[in-house]
Amino acid sequence: MTNAAVAADLIADRLVPFPKSHFLAAADLNPPFVSALLDLGDAFVELNRSSTKALDLLRGRTVLNLFFENSTRTSSSFEIAAKRLGADVVTMPVGASSVKKGETLIDTAVTLNAMRPDILVVRHGASGAAALLSQKVGCAVVNAGDGRHEHPTQALLDLLSLRRAFGDVGGLTVAICGDIAHSRVARSNVALLSMMGARVRLIGPPTLVPGDADRWGCEVFHDMREGLAGCDVVMMLRLQLERMDGALMPSTREYFRFWGLDREKLAWARAGAKVMHPGPMNRGVEIDSDVADDLSVSLIQDQVEMGVAARMAVLASLAMRLESAR
Ligand code: NCD
Repeated sequence: MTNAAVAADLIADRLVPFPKSHFLAAADLNPPFVSALLDLGDAFVELNRSSTKALDLLRGRTVLNLFFENSTRTSSSFEIAAKRLGADVVTMPVGASSVKKGETLIDTAVTLNAMRPDILVVRHGASGAAALLSQKVGCAVVNAGDGRHEHPTQALLDLLSLRRAFGDVGGLTVAICGDIAHSRVARSNVALLSMMGARVRLIGPPTLVPGDADRWGCEVFHDMREGLAGCDVVMMLRLQLERMDGALMPSTREYFRFWGLDREKLAWARAGAKVMHPGPMNRGVEIDSDVADDLSVSLIQDQVEMGVAARMAVLASLAMRLESAR
């Protein structure tokens, strides 16, 4: 059998129906299902590394990619994932300028719903937008990032990258560093990593760590040296300048001096610690190129690869649930 055929058999064995009608937040998952989904993700990695990447698990299904916020990486990742599963995919970059929140979002949803898509992948600048949409449409909704609320497929791909690098996520100490306040990636990762037994730390300046962060079940540090001590994983976040409405930091140069990850700061973590970043990176602001591009420590390229596999696992699993609901 070819590698692709072996992978296809593995995928068929590992398919599991999604536990909810929509994937809006990390809390829609549970630990045994996450493990099953990661096993499925591993099988998709094998398929994606073979020369024949096409399957027909979503044949006849329509996936609508609805991006109200700019995105290259996430929208193309979902598009490739859906295409490799044989779905008909329409990606609609609904420019932020053309759409205002509230009424217009619902109008858009109702209109699109009338075209009878099966899965709607949505990114929107307002927290709660994906949940709101899910109440107005008859198809499955996947949250591809809503404001500063959640980005659950990012947390899933991060988990897949970590499990492949470390074998097990339980017991790892993961430091999430930087602009926690504006980050949906941080919120989804805190929820999913904690669910799977990792210890999570949040590190950042007081202006960029939410006041209630100590109630997220994480240790909070306002000093990189203290926070990084003993960490297995350093997950850097992008400074979300587009979500900042005031002066929350002195300057990007000053920010890099205290919070930017370079070799010197990385040495404060455990020997062999891995570095992650969801992208897009501000090089020289939150992370030094020297660290980001060093494949012996950086998982950043793996994260992109795992993004497609993790999203294929989510879409295939949601399609299986749709099938059983017929
Ligand atoms: C993240 C996002 O959009 O929330 N990026 C991504 O999904 N590619 C992180 C970020 O924009 O900083």
